Amino acid sequence: MTPSDPCLILGHPVWFDGDPFDDPLTALRDEPDGAVLVQGGRIAAVGPAARLRASHPRVTVIDHAGHILMAGFVDTHVHYPQTHIIASYGAQLLDWLERYTFPAEAAFADPAHARAVAAFFLDEMLANGTTSASVFCTVHPGSVDAFFTEAAARDLRVAAGKVLMDHGVPDDLRDDAQSAYDDSAALIARWHGRGRAHYAITPRFALTSSPEQLAAAGALWAAHPDVLMQTHLSENHAEIAAVAARFADLPDYLGVYEHHGLLGPGANFGHGIHLRPREIARLAESGAAIAHCPTSNLFIGSGLFDLDGLRRHGVRIGLGSDVGGGSSLSMLVTMRAAYEVAQLRGVSLHPAQAFWLATFGGATTLRMDTQIGNLRPGMEADLIALDPAATKLLAARTARANSLADLLFALMILGDERAVAGTYVRGRRVGG
Ligand code: GUN
Ligand code: ZN
Repeated sequence: MTPSDPCLILGHPVWFDGDPFDDPLTALRDEPDGAVLVQGGRIAAVGPAARLRASHPRVTVIDHAGHILMAGFVDTHVHYPQTHIIASYGAQLLDWLERYTFPAEAAFADPAHARAVAAFFLDEMLANGTTSASVFCTVHPGSVDAFFTEAAARDLRVAAGKVLMDHGVPDDLRDDAQSAYDDSAALIARWHGRGRAHYAITPRFALTSSPEQLAAAGALWAAHPDVLMQTHLSENHAEIAAVAARFADLPDYLGVYEHHGLLGPGANFGHGIHLRPREIARLAESGAAIAHCPTSNLFIGSGLFDLDGLRRHGVRIGLGSDVGGGSSLSMLVTMRAAYEVAQLRGVSLHPAQAFWLATFGGATTLRMDTQIGNLRPGMEADLIALDPAATKLLAARTARANSLADLLFALMILGDERAVAGTYVRGRRVGG
């Protein structure tokens, strides 16, 4: 509860009533002269402004007239320790990790540095309208404490985990199978389910873990099946060839994770660009998810993700910024990149589908969909106000919008942080 709770937020609520990959037009719902009633940090009602004002004459009114009100964005794959190496020039995945990522992550041995970067990252995230995320920390347990401490100070529903890596990395970034297990188990005990925190067991990727460490991660997940599991999968051709050479007795890249108990509901694999049919079938059957990270795939030059094909095969998909491989924390910019990548594969991603991936779809992949991701009564009031006239160009384009879908499309193609007029966490204004 906050001083302004209960409150009535006036604007143009937009929500989902179904999966837009089944039917984009009927899934998308709105109330142009509408309002969202927030009580006790939850959405109590969504409806016509006049009706809600009449039935709640004494609540605080927050005026976002003319702004789209929707659930806050969900970033399903991002690395907070890479915030300051965003926009690093001239490398593809394996070189990029060595040249930029590992040196930056080594600095997180210092808890004060970790706290400062976590605070900066979370404030940037909120300014961009992202209210939930699944976050990679570093190999240092203190980097996880720092992150969850700053997230709790902002009351955020986030998932995060200590990166596990005991193979092929600099000495100062190496753990081992036992310490990976023990440190992660202690972090789960300390953080999972505390306030709005979710733990994610986080082996970095197949190339940076020994088989013993992958097996330890699988055993830990079996002991704590309610936590998430996140890693990287099939992002870059050199990476895939190295995985095939190192695990030659296993059928494919996903097979490495599967063999070690790291495939199932609650598994969230970053990228999944160059998958074989067997891997796609196993992802769908197991209920695992892919985090599609289009700005990263373009920026690092990894490839063009087959969103349409994987959806057709029944794979769950969310959207990720993957900063610092990704080039923006904005999920609007990420949606634009997803649209452009799909176009290059001959498919036009519908705006209802893009916004669903960036909200409820993402919440589903993180198993947070009973709490967040949609503007429906009973859900936690994590929501954003988007200004369709935030820039002169957006104003000129959205003035011509001939439908809600067209308005949302203009926002995702032309919008960025400037379009976020307000970010609310459990009904409390925190950014925008
Ligand atoms: N694969 C293993 N680690 C990473 C990482 O930090 N970023 C990306 N994009 N891919 C990875
Ligand atoms: Zn990543």
